[in-house]
Amino acid sequence: TSPAHIRNFSIIAHIDHGKSTLADRMLQLTGAVDERLMRAQYLDRMDIERERGITIKAQNVRLPWVPKTGAVAGEEIVLHMIDTPGHVDFTYEVSRALEACEGAVLLVDAAQGIEAQTLANLYLAMEKDLEIIPVLNKIDLPAADPDRFALEIAQIIGCEPEEVLRVSGKTGEGVSQLLDKLCEVVPPPVGDADAPPRALIFDSVYDTYRGVVTYVRVFDGKLTPRTKVTMMSTGANYELQEIGIISPEPEACEGLGVGEVGYLITGVKDVRQSKVGDTVTLANGGAEDPLAGYQEPSPMVFSGLYPIDGSDYPVLRDALDKLQLNDAALAYEPETSVALGFGFRCGFLGLLHMEITRDRLQREFGLDLISTAPNVVYRVIAEDGEEYNVTNPSVWPEGKNREVYEPIVKTTIIVPSEFVGTTMELCQSKRGDMQGMDYLSETRVELRYIMPLGEIIFDFFDSLKSRTRGYASLQYEEAGEQISDLVKVDILLQGEAVDAFSAIVHRDHAQHYGNKMTVKLKELIPRQQYEVPIQAAIGSKIISRENIRAIRKDVLSKCYGGDISRKRKLLEKQKEGKKRMKSIGRVDVPQEAFVAALSAD
Ligand code: GTP
Repeated sequence: TSPAHIRNFSIIAHIDHGKSTLADRMLQLTGAVDERLMRAQYLDRMDIERERGITIKAQNVRLPWVPKTGAVAGEEIVLHMIDTPGHVDFTYEVSRALEACEGAVLLVDAAQGIEAQTLANLYLAMEKDLEIIPVLNKIDLPAADPDRFALEIAQIIGCEPEEVLRVSGKTGEGVSQLLDKLCEVVPPPVGDADAPPRALIFDSVYDTYRGVVTYVRVFDGKLTPRTKVTMMSTGANYELQEIGIISPEPEACEGLGVGEVGYLITGVKDVRQSKVGDTVTLANGGAEDPLAGYQEPSPMVFSGLYPIDGSDYPVLRDALDKLQLNDAALAYEPETSVALGFGFRCGFLGLLHMEITRDRLQREFGLDLISTAPNVVYRVIAEDGEEYNVTNPSVWPEGKNREVYEPIVKTTIIVPSEFVGTTMELCQSKRGDMQGMDYLSETRVELRYIMPLGEIIFDFFDSLKSRTRGYASLQYEEAGEQISDLVKVDILLQGEAVDAFSAIVHRDHAQHYGNKMTVKLKELIPRQQYEVPIQAAIGSKIISRENIRAIRKDVLSKCYGGDISRKRKLLEKQKEGKKRMKSIGRVDVPQEAFVAALSAD
């Protein structure tokens, strides 16, 4: 297809605002999917996506369309829809997907209005000079208020409220007009057809049978099958075994030219060799310069993962190996904990990424896991001038530290105006530094803060939701680091530190953490035969203390002499319980106590 007849666009939308449903309608209307084969949310391929109703991996699809209206009416246009993941953790992937487009549909639920993540992605699209097509969705809903939200959107992007299209992905109303509009206003791609090929990787997915399937958008030249290509960031060479388009099932083709979007198969077995953001060119006579903006995915949130049953350790290692084939951002290395045994320290892009990974480990590999409280990466300059990157509290340098740096993020929160006070209070308690505040409309406010990432990853979003009755939306992006007065708080059982409970917190919050954990553990750990002190300490300084009183717990006393088989059963049970205890020094701690103490409350 000649570039003049190509339109590349993506859809920017908040979770649940109806992107998948709209995509389904587009597939149907353009005839890309046969009526018989149509199923809900056609493009969300992974089961877990379907269940959680969120889109994790960008999918792209080719849609042929002959518009009835506008400047190109009657001509066959090839629309490429490039799907973007909607969640905060995947900003980098969103940015790559937008890089592959000339236009973006801003899709907003007509009963909800725009949300923080959508706003952040919209700004990203505007920075890249994409043509924005504002659309209100779900206009069939009785609660829809398109007039009000058209005004809000018009104000944000600077257009007339009448220019905001109104559609329903459910009934299909307005969708063909939207397709016409895309053909009319999204600029056709420009590129040098005679230059050496350059293609941007905006997604890559591991497939059990084919190896890694890499999704690309060609900017210059042409990629053809059976040629040798180079991934420019690593210099690795591969033969292009197959090249094709998605419509919406993969179809091999003779090559991809300027502006075209499709997939490559090179026989690579690991997505880390085919990285999002990288440029593909020819191995011989390829381009000199890569396309701009490649960035290594870097984990920002770390947590220890341990099998509850120690013998599952090899299964966990295997499972992580398998997940990593499909997830370039997942990092892990073996770690041992006195309290929890053998496990892995894992690095994630963010909290959702962590949850999804844990979920998949449990669901797809049948693993029962304990995870330690998440933490971020701290840069510590010790007294002797040595510099450490600390991803685990247990390797926090002992002694006085000269300087400690923690990562910070730029946070955008959108709330109904009546919740501004309580939201500001929460942000302040999490060491937020207010940057600004704007009324999006009379009833909704955008708040901007600089906050430590470490405060956001631990139940910030839950607190925000509960304070705002679920109405708040949140977005954050990296914003460098700041120097901070952070300390490590250890929790000691009978004088012995339990590594799984150590945490790095701001000095002002240390007391609170210490009190909270000692009280919690006092409730969770059963009485032992002697008194057990539970202490919280910074270095050698004890900051709080509770005692578990001594008692001899006699299970038989409940039986009032009764029948002997019942007694035996109880004794058996007690024995079994013992097996699931971990000994910390002389103290027996039931596994459940760890699980309960480590869960956010
Ligand atoms: P993610 O994949 O999580 O980003 O969600 P999404 O934006 O793709 O939303 P999805 O298409 O899954 O729709 C979310 C919910 O809204 C579903 O229950 C849909 O049935 C419903 N929905 C989507 N479009 C419409 C619409 O036009 N009208 C009505 N009434 N409901 C809709």
